[in-house]
Amino acid sequence: MYISMSINNSDANRDRPTQEVSLAVNDEEVTADIEPRLKLSDFLRNDVDLNSVRIGCEHGVCGACTISVDGDLVKSCMMYAVQTDGSEIETVEGLSDDGSLDPVQEAFHEEHALQCGFCTSGFIMSTRALLQDNPDPSREEITEQLSSNICRCTGYQNIYEAVETAAEKMEND
Ligand code: FES
Ligand code: FES
Repeated sequence: MYISMSINNSDANRDRPTQEVSLAVNDEEVTADIEPRLKLSDFLRNDVDLNSVRIGCEHGVCGACTISVDGDLVKSCMMYAVQTDGSEIETVEGLSDDGSLDPVQEAFHEEHALQCGFCTSGFIMSTRALLQDNPDPSREEITEQLSSNICRCTGYQNIYEAVETAAEKMEND
């Protein structure tokens, strides 16, 4: 699928400079003509319509906007979209292409590791990154990895248990 979009064409923005970017988002090619000041989080959520990218603090603290850029875990509110020209981006929407849940999503569901769900996308992306590097993390390693994500609802216990369940699922796959 090829997505081509032209942003920044409103009357209000017509005199501002733009830059063309081309990147892969969840294995789909995206090109866009955007303002250099546009944050990656705003671009993905508002222009590419990826609602899993949550915008919370907008200054790199809460982790709600966490995604993968070229395999690295990134807080997308801390990057400009133009910095990802030529990159490969993965969000929660890209975890499954057949409608089934990824093992980490399954584990969060089974362990009731969410309440309002606002933080969940970021936790899932952080958990996947952890388990790719360390398939059998200790509780301390889980706590350390997830310290960059904030949840205001759950008290974290069920999230930690979901990470351990996800590790077991991935080991048995
Ligand atoms: S919105 Fe990006 S870290 Fe909070
Ligand atoms: S489930 Fe509500 S912020 Fe985490």
